[in-house]
Amino acid sequence: MSEPKTTSDRHETPRRSIGPIIGGSLSRGVEARLEGTSTPEALRSGQMVVVEGERYDFFGMITDLALRSTSPEALEGAPSIDLRDEPLGAILRGNTYYGLATLRLSLMRARGARVDDEEALEPARTIPGHFAPARIAGSADVERVFGRPGEGGYYRIGSPIEMKDVSVCVDLDRLVERSSGIFGKSGTGKTFLTRLVLAGIIRRARLAKQTSSGTRPPTLLVFDMHNEYAHGSRREEGSVVKGLADYFPADVEVFSLGSQGSRGGRFVVQIPYSQIEPEDVLLLSDELNLTDTAAECAYLAQARWGKAWFQRMIDPSPEAAEERKSLGAHEQAIRAFWQRLRYLHSQCQSFLCDRLSPELDAVRQIMINLREGKHTIVEFGKSRHLLQYMFVANILTRRIHAQYTEATEAYLAEPKPGNEPRPAVIVLEEAHKFLSPTLARQTIFGTIAREMRKYYVTLLIVDQRPSQIDPEIHSQLGTKLICHLDNERDVEAVLAGASAEMGLRGVLANLRSKQQALILGHAVRMPVVVDTRTYGDKEFDREIGFRTEEERRRDADLAAQQLGGL
Ligand SMILES: Nc1ncnc2c1ncn2[C@@H]1O[C@H](COP(=O)(O)OP(=O)(O)OP(=O)(O)O)[C@@H](O)[C@H]1O
Ligand SMILES: [Mg+2]
Repeated sequence: MSEPKTTSDRHETPRRSIGPIIGGSLSRGVEARLEGTSTPEALRSGQMVVVEGERYDFFGMITDLALRSTSPEALEGAPSIDLRDEPLGAILRGNTYYGLATLRLSLMRARGARVDDEEALEPARTIPGHFAPARIAGSADVERVFGRPGEGGYYRIGSPIEMKDVSVCVDLDRLVERSSGIFGKSGTGKTFLTRLVLAGIIRRARLAKQTSSGTRPPTLLVFDMHNEYAHGSRREEGSVVKGLADYFPADVEVFSLGSQGSRGGRFVVQIPYSQIEPEDVLLLSDELNLTDTAAECAYLAQARWGKAWFQRMIDPSPEAAEERKSLGAHEQAIRAFWQRLRYLHSQCQSFLCDRLSPELDAVRQIMINLREGKHTIVEFGKSRHLLQYMFVANILTRRIHAQYTEATEAYLAEPKPGNEPRPAVIVLEEAHKFLSPTLARQTIFGTIAREMRKYYVTLLIVDQRPSQIDPEIHSQLGTKLICHLDNERDVEAVLAGASAEMGLRGVLANLRSKQQALILGHAVRMPVVVDTRTYGDKEFDREIGFRTEEERRRDADLAAQQLGGL
């Protein structure tokens, strides 16, 4: 059933036929009977497919593979001897016994519509009729659906399964329009995938700046708990890949926490006690093992001492202890809270301080960077325990969000183009710690995810336990990039609510354990499984415009020679 190539798809990968559609439904997916004697072994869960209907071409993916026989009798009467190499085997296979592929169709496109007519692609609301031929998608199909790298916001994120030379793109402009999530079990490639996406966003922002295209690409603020984003980090195989600050030294600034930054960011983040709010401490209730009375104590202390509440609460002097007794809370409760705060303080001593001059205020510096389009990575250096990470990320984000709210309101009151805030994307690892069902309603990160882009700030959350994130937050995520997950509840959580769920569970469960992802949502026209491209290889370096010292020298020599020849 393979078709002759037309001139228009001369460069296309050879089309591989699957077989005719023989059953199924719109809600469950259609079923293609594998052609002739072909075996399901040639197909993979997640592979992109095309079904050529009478009036429409349909695009989708393989969600299941099965073996069938024409009747129960055939099953009972199945030969018990090895017929694989026998002529009878070939006759039976493909007639009485056959393979079946379930295809989840997402998009359809009127046949004969112009190739470049983007409007022609629409959600699949019908199914092809009996015997419509199904085939593996070719490179032209992939490009038609996912765009061409470099055009608009299209950015190559990987290739369709087993099609190394073909690009699947995500639309970065759409990706950053809403909050998004990168999920997967530990060690599946979340951080590499995140770095890949961030490199794309930084490059796009740089190009927009160079061409003064008028678009306002977002600036990134990365909370880098494990010091993985700014500078080189080691791949499991041992090779070292460059970080975002290595690739884009002029576009990225690294901040380090306290005086002990891992590799010395330019700006040292210190936090005065007066910037700590009760909410920042209450967020740590699991980590600090806070009791139910902690919130009451914190708010009483704040009501009494205002911005000095934290300092007064941890003061070890007998006078301060006396003062605390008069707060109005139960003495034991105050004592328990005091102990917990003392512990927190001992863990955060390296970056907490009494007071800070305005020019050393990290939030002020980060706001300047965000406004000017300079991406900022906050490294946690040696202070990279969850406690410190959560505490700092929350304090900084709360104040940044407050300033964005103010700037947005000023812009709405006086909507001049120069006044419009530049969008920001906050990248957050270990997101479930901030967005659990109990915390998501109270923390600033929950607020940002729920507001969508009202105040020009969105999140890119990275997490290995999506089931521990509030379902409401999941429903606000525009795009999800999901690496292998095997916990039933995690799979359910990432797919919940999405009409996309149909058939995708199986696809998720069958992803390779590394460097493969299911992408769905706002930034792609239809769900797709990709072999994630390799971050940090030569091809990647070339594409994002990175040149080694030697290459730069060679280019300079060449330019000098050309000048000399003039
Ligand atoms: N796109 C990629 N390019 C290059 N290497 C990759 C890619 N994806 C995954 N890897 C390999 O897989 C390993 C694990 O990836 P990564 O550190 O991103 O996992 P993770 O999901 O963030 O794990 P954890 O939950 O432990 O943080 C890397 O060390 C690297 O060797
Ligand atoms: Mg990681």
